Parts: sequence; C-alpha cells; structure tokens
Amino acid sequence: MTITGTYAEFAAREAHGVSPSYERLALAVSADDELLALLDTLPATKRQPNLLFSVVRFLGGPVENPTAFRHYMVANWPAIEAEILVRATQTNEAGRCALLLPVLAALPQPLALLEVGASAGLCLYPDRYAYRYGDHVVGTGEPILECAVTGVPLPSRVPEVVWRAGLDLNPLDVTDPADVAWLDALIWPEHAHRRARLRAAAAVAAAEPPLLVRGDLVDDLPALAAQAPAGATLVVFHTSVLFYVPAPRREAFTQVVRTLPGHWIANEGAEVLPYATLPQPPGDALHNVLALDGTPLAWTRPHGQAMTWFA
Ligand SMILES: C[S@@+](CC[C@H](N)C(=O)[O-])C[C@H]1O[C@@H](n2cnc3c(N)ncnc32)[C@H](O)[C@@H]1O
Repeated sequence: MTITGTYAEFAAREAHGVSPSYERLALAVSADDELLALLDTLPATKRQPNLLFSVVRFLGGPVENPTAFRHYMVANWPAIEAEILVRATQTNEAGRCALLLPVLAALPQPLALLEVGASAGLCLYPDRYAYRYGDHVVGTGEPILECAVTGVPLPSRVPEVVWRAGLDLNPLDVTDPADVAWLDALIWPEHAHRRARLRAAAAVAAAEPPLLVRGDLVDDLPALAAQAPAGATLVVFHTSVLFYVPAPRREAFTQVVRTLPGHWIANEGAEVLPYATLPQPPGDALHNVLALDGTPLAWTRPHGQAMTWFA
C-alpha cells in the first residue's frame, strides 16, 4: 500500500470514532505531498501513522491541530526521524486482558502464562485486574477493564496464574520512567482512560515484575516454554503482534506453537492469521479475531473495548 493509502486507511478504519485528532492528522498527512516525501525517506517499516504521531507526542509536539502538526513536523524533521528510527510501536494495552479472560478462565487451572510479543508484560496479569462486562463484574483488582460484549460466555472468577513470562524482541521495563514515558506517548491523545489504565497496570507489574526475555517468538519460544512449571496448564498467547512478523515467520511460529503442550490463544487481525471461515464482522471498524488452538471464537476491538462471540 502507498504511504498516502496507509494514512487514509488508518484515519478511516482505526482512528475514526476512536481518536478525532489522529483521524484529522492522518487525513491531512495522506493529502500532503511534502510530509509524504519526508515519510518516504524512512524504511518501509517505520512509516506507520501510530509511530509518527507517538514520536511527535513524545517530543512534546502538537497533535491536535493538523496545521500546527505540519509546521512542527517540517521544522523538527531531523529530531523526529532520529526518534522514529530507534523506537517501535509497542503499545502495551492491559485492556486486551478483557478479551483473553473468558478463554483463560475456561481452561484447566492453574495456568502458566507465556506471552510472545509482550512489550512491557502488562497483559501477563489477567488475574490481578478487575473486569466490567456490562453489569457483569469479575475480580476485585485495578485497573477495572471495561468491555462491551455480545454473546460471550462470561466467567465468574479470574484465572489462577502460577507462572508468567514474556518474550519480546525489545522488552520494555515498567520500572524505567523512560520506557513508561514511551508507553504513555503511544496512547492516543483523547484516551485519558487508557493513560490511567497504563499507570494502574504498570503499578501492578512493577510490584512483581514479570520474567521478560529478549528474544524472537519463533527461535526462542521452546526454551522459554520449557521453563514453565509442571502441574500448570501452559498457555502461549499473543495480541496484536503477528502483524509485525513477516508471513513465513508467522507460519514458522504457528508450527512451533502447535508442538508445545498446553494451549495457544491468538488475538490478531483476520488477514494476519487466516481462518477457513469467519462470520461477517459487526461493522466497518477494525476487528481482530480471538482464537483458541487455531479455532476462531470472536471478533474483538483493538484496545479490548468490545468483543462479539461467534454464534
Ligand atoms: C503492538 S505490541 C503488543 C504488545 C502486547 N501484546 C499488547 O497487546 O499489549 C507488539 C510487540 O511485539 C513485539 N514483537 C514483534 N515481533 C516480534 C518477534 N519476532 N518476536 C518477539 N516479539 C516481537 C514488539 O517488540 C512489540 O513489543
């Protein structure tokens, strides 16, 4: 896809109805030849709207007004470019635990959790958070994760987790203020509730930091999985990760994960992990597919805000 197409699609499918300021910025960039030419100088993997906008936020630049953003981007391009080249979109959204919970709670307990593409590991604490699915509340911790559900078999309690570990090419450290500042910059401008959620989830993780291993989700998965304790159900899971992984490596990952004992939960785009048949998604907005051991179960919204179970 062209850069202009990428920004127009981000505006229409990801930011529309979720972040008016990023929708405005993405549309403005998609129609601005000078800004597109700057982005064209970057490696193809570094041109995403989310990375550009987060770097500008991280540097203290304006992201509300497209004209102010444009002036800032042109005037500060060397600093923006330098930051883009060393950073990656590693949004760590604890809210995605609300999507995992119904599946995790239905597996034989206790659980040994292994997340690939864990970022800072905030999705490794589904037992510590609380959940509100409409009127149905599960758990007593913080943050409280809200998720609108349709047809979802809801659990009555959080799972029992006896081991948690994460694998990431570039693990972030919730006890490092610079890493937390970057995680904050990755959150979209209007999403004060997600910023509060990040702080609360980071406090949970910082109180008992997870085992986070720097490594690749294909090459280094078996060795980390081998560290899981006997007597617990191993659950390998990933949310919003395989989009970043080239297709042949995704295939290699699915082969490796199927050789492991236990279960595999995927929450990824429908085109990222193709399934034989899927029902129509519940609208035009971007939806991911939640799957257990390769069987698709539900459409999910990217930040964990909604889930529609397949009939
Ligand atoms: C968008 S973040 C998602 C983080 C977390 N799963 C969540 O949902 O909040 C994607 C993460 O995948 C990691 N990643 C990408 N490719 C990877 C690979 N081949 N092996 C391990 N981690 C990878 C990135 O470094 C990044 O931290």
